[in-house]
Amino acid sequence: MADLTADLGFIKLKNPVIPASGTFGYGGEFLQFFDLDLLGAFVMKGVYSEERGGNEPPRIWETPSGLLNSIGLAGPGAEGLRGIIKEVASKTSTPIIVNVCGGNDEEYLEVARVLDVMEEVAMLELNISCPNVRSGGSCPAQSPSDTKKVVRLLKENTKKPLIVKLSPNVSDVPSVARAAEEAGADAISVVNTFLGLALDVKNRKPVFKNFFAGLSGPAIKPLALKIVWEVAEAVNIPVIGIGGIMTGRDVLEFILAGATAIQTGTVNIIEPTGSVRIINETLELMDELKIDNLEEIRGGLNI
Ligand code: SIN
Repeated sequence: MADLTADLGFIKLKNPVIPASGTFGYGGEFLQFFDLDLLGAFVMKGVYSEERGGNEPPRIWETPSGLLNSIGLAGPGAEGLRGIIKEVASKTSTPIIVNVCGGNDEEYLEVARVLDVMEEVAMLELNISCPNVRSGGSCPAQSPSDTKKVVRLLKENTKKPLIVKLSPNVSDVPSVARAAEEAGADAISVVNTFLGLALDVKNRKPVFKNFFAGLSGPAIKPLALKIVWEVAEAVNIPVIGIGGIMTGRDVLEFILAGATAIQTGTVNIIEPTGSVRIINETLELMDELKIDNLEEIRGGLNI
C-alpha cells in the first residue's frame, strides 16, 4: 500500500489532507461524522482577539460549481477559543492548526501569543488574505511589504510553526510568497478565495451586504492549481495547496504542481465526510498508478 505521509519539515502528517479554516468549524462539529484521527491535520476557523458577530446575512450563495461566502470571520475571540481547543484536542491526536486573524499587526500578534502557549495547538496559520472584512476585499496579502512586516513580527515573537495563507486577488502571488519566506514563514497555504460578485437582478442590488464575497469550490480549481505551481516554483518552503479539491485525483494534481499537502474546503460543507473519502481515493489512485509515496511525484511534471 502507498505511503500517504506528508512531510512539511517541521511536522510529518499521516496524510496530506487538511480541512481548511472556515469550512470545518472547530473540528468538534465533525466528530458525529468521523474520527478526526483519520485526518492529516485540520484548521480551526479564523479567530480575532475579541469575539466577532461577522457579516449580516446572506453569508453564502451557491454559484455554478462554486460557493461565494461572506462570513466576516465570526468567532469567539482568542480567549474564548482556548476552551474549545482543549475540548477538541482531548478527542483527537491529529495536529490542530488555528487560523490567526487581526485588524492590524498588533492584533495578529496578540492572538498568536494566546495560542502560542497552548500545547494543544500544533501550528498557526496566519490569515492575511480574508476578502470579507475590509472594504473592497483588501488585505495585507496584497502587498509584499505588509506581508513581510506581519510575518516577521510573528516569527520574532512566537515559537509555533507559522503557515502563511495567501490571497489569489493580487497580480503577483509568488512575490508575496517570497516576502513571507524571507520574513521566516515555515510554509505557505494558497489560495484563499477569489473575490466575486453576486447580483440580485429583481432588486438591482448586490446579494451580499459587503458587496464582494469569496469564491471557492471546483470552479476555482484550475486557477488555484496555476498559482500553487507558480508559488512552489518561487519558494523553498512547503506549499499547502487549496482550491476546489473534491477528489483524490485533485489531491495528486496539486502534489504534482508542487504542493506538499492540501486543504479541502467547500467539499466539507456539502459532504461532511468528504475529506475522508478524498484520503481513501488518494490512496487507491496511488496504488493504481503505482506511486509509492507523495514525494515521488511532488513537483514532478513531465515538461
Ligand atoms: C470569512 O469568514 O469571511 C472567510 C474567511 C477567509 O476567507 O479567510
